[in-house]
Amino acid sequence: MEFKEITAKDYTIYFESKTYLALETFFKTNSYSTVFILVDSHTKANCLPVFLSKFPLHLDYNVIEIPSGENHKNLETCSKVWQELTRLNADRKSILINIGGGMVTDLGGFVAATFKRGIRFINIPTSLLGMVDASIGGKTGVDFNNLKNQIGLFVNPELLLVDFSYLKTLPKLELHSGLAEVIKYALTYDADLWKSMQENSSFNEKTIQKWIYRSIEIKNEIVLTDPTEQNLRKILNYGHTIGHAIETYFLENDNKENLRHGEAIAIGLIAESYISMQECNFPEKELMALKKVITQLFKKVSFSEKDIESFHELMKHDKKNNNGIILFTLLDTIGNCKINCTVSKELINKSLDFYLK
Ligand code: GLY
Repeated sequence: MEFKEITAKDYTIYFESKTYLALETFFKTNSYSTVFILVDSHTKANCLPVFLSKFPLHLDYNVIEIPSGENHKNLETCSKVWQELTRLNADRKSILINIGGGMVTDLGGFVAATFKRGIRFINIPTSLLGMVDASIGGKTGVDFNNLKNQIGLFVNPELLLVDFSYLKTLPKLELHSGLAEVIKYALTYDADLWKSMQENSSFNEKTIQKWIYRSIEIKNEIVLTDPTEQNLRKILNYGHTIGHAIETYFLENDNKENLRHGEAIAIGLIAESYISMQECNFPEKELMALKKVITQLFKKVSFSEKDIESFHELMKHDKKNNNGIILFTLLDTIGNCKINCTVSKELINKSLDFYLK
């Protein structure tokens, strides 16, 4: 299958071999002073060599490395990158190339957009999650006080380059983590994609590539309509109200193993689909199909009643809340969302019991 470029707001998304041609054209046709490449310790070892072999930069560049992992997605890491940019005399004509998963593109975009009031950046996502979600749509930022993505801004890259070969560098768990977002697009937007996900439980490489491409098309369509999340874009939060709280709770508790983003979102998808069944008549058949797909991809996570109390506390900080009221996106049927729904604490608890059963 040929993956045609996709036109986003103010920039283009290129795929596979076209990515490096687009990058070459970019450097030939744009004036710039210095080039910086932002990587984390994982992508420095596994992805930077691939990038340099496919695109031998005939220009001077500096590599800036940050530690990998969500627990480093904070202002302290930003500060180190700003210091490096300053030390290496970056100016407003400098360009930052972010090579990494969502953590690198979120943080790198934010650092670039705020350095000297904004330098240009290019995103090269290397994880499935980064390809289908984090690197598209202009959301950049970092966690603050252990709350996810609390500080940030909307800003778009100059180019988004999707080369599936980086996925080969990922452990299976990481690949599966990104598929939680693909499930989200399928449930909220595309019944055919949902059908395909139920029928292809072997999750083979070519099928995953088609799902990634379709997910990018969907996300792009949504953010073109509603770039700053006033209405339609809220559907992208499906599964995330509960999922983000769980992710944060496991991240900030030393006695809990960190969950990958997708592992937490998978729990959120099941819980919020259960709530959708109770509140909006979402079909039970689809809920059971979802549980089956998620069971194929993720291990079961356990948590106690006390943990659930903490999830409620964390949900109070969800960015979609209005005046302290927690707002959910729910589903009537596949592809039909209702936004700004309130849900009782009791029903949230029931939905988490349903997950645990
Ligand atoms: N990750 C959700 C969004 O970009 O809106």
